[in-house]
Amino acid sequence: MIHQPASAPQEPVLEDRLAWFNQTRLGLFIHWGPYSVAGRGEWVMNRERMSKEEYLDRVVSKWDAENYDPARWATLARQAGAGYIVLTARHHDGFCLWNTGTTTWNSVELGPKRDLVEPFVKAARAEDLKVGLYMSAADWTHPDYPGAFHRDWPEEEDWKSEEARQRFVAFYREQTRELMTRYGTIDLLWWDGCFPAPLDGEETNRMVRDLQPNILINERNGAGFDFRISEQSVNQKPGAWEASLTLNDNWGWHAGDTKWKTTEDVLAYLLEAASGAGNLLINIGPKGDGTIPERGHEVLKQVGDWLSRNKESIANSERNEFSWNNSCKITVKGNRVYLHFHCDPGPRFCWAELSNKILSAHIVSTGEPVSFEQEDHRLWLNFPEGGLPERPITTIALEVEGTPTPTTPRTSFWIPE
Ligand code: GLC
Repeated sequence: MIHQPASAPQEPVLEDRLAWFNQTRLGLFIHWGPYSVAGRGEWVMNRERMSKEEYLDRVVSKWDAENYDPARWATLARQAGAGYIVLTARHHDGFCLWNTGTTTWNSVELGPKRDLVEPFVKAARAEDLKVGLYMSAADWTHPDYPGAFHRDWPEEEDWKSEEARQRFVAFYREQTRELMTRYGTIDLLWWDGCFPAPLDGEETNRMVRDLQPNILINERNGAGFDFRISEQSVNQKPGAWEASLTLNDNWGWHAGDTKWKTTEDVLAYLLEAASGAGNLLINIGPKGDGTIPERGHEVLKQVGDWLSRNKESIANSERNEFSWNNSCKITVKGNRVYLHFHCDPGPRFCWAELSNKILSAHIVSTGEPVSFEQEDHRLWLNFPEGGLPERPITTIALEVEGTPTPTTPRTSFWIPE
């Protein structure tokens, strides 16, 4: 054992830093910037090949953010049962939502004419939410950034020169430093658009960690990260991870996108993530004025309503090895197994996968006991007359002897990616 003198600074341990992240399992992602005025998604500048001047004229100068009230966003996040909220401080258009000293391409000089990050951070803290900032390295408007209008992302060989690359790295790093020093504690940094390589992400992450020792950093800026992400899908990753999903089909506000997920869809994604000890970061794109689209608002509130009765089944959930069945999703914590019924299987449900002896069973939202029989590897649950009480998903907690273990190991084929 290495003995450390009492005065030696202790590096915060990853497991401790992840405690809140694993406890909450749900975060709210907010894509909001000048593009929200156009209402055609956050890639509008790139997809429509707008020059910076055109974007300034047609988009940025039209952005007033007249109804921006981040307290409403934070309240909604809280009502949705989320424990953290992440704002796009700067997206790929390079437009900074704070009073940066690095460029006039920011919301204090242009558009809304005020710092938008500061009130966001305050509002989040007032609701006791952890604060996350999204930062795109890619910047379609910076003169040193190569190939602004590539179909998707520029390649490494597109840097104009090594000097240009270094200038660009210094630029985005300084902006990151501002975000990490001006607004108090930042709990999470969500990198995106870290193309083309090399962006010297490892050194940047080191700087971030020196400034914010307890921060959690996602994997997108290379080495030195804390959690992995799965974008627009829920795919388990090694270590801590988070699935980020849109609530309709767009990240930024799109006026014509009506493909809203239902409350049940969102809960299913959340449970899928939680069954692999992962989080769901569900996104909403507020309109240019700062208001949240009604349908999204409604779904998020319903998610929170369900969570207010059932959250124990996902908070600190552990990775489990149970396989699929056609009636319920499964989460596990300690000696508890939670069966989340999205399809009512009728009066008697047979689960033939549990090798442990079961001690008790009850409906989580009502506390009502559920009678059961167990024979070898088959467990029967007898449901109350009138069916399962909770819509769209009823959760049943089973207390078992020992660590919940499946009868047969999970195979990799047949499990959808
Ligand atoms: C992608 C997109 C971006 C969005 C992000 C969220 O990388 O470029 O628009 O912000 O995914 O995960």
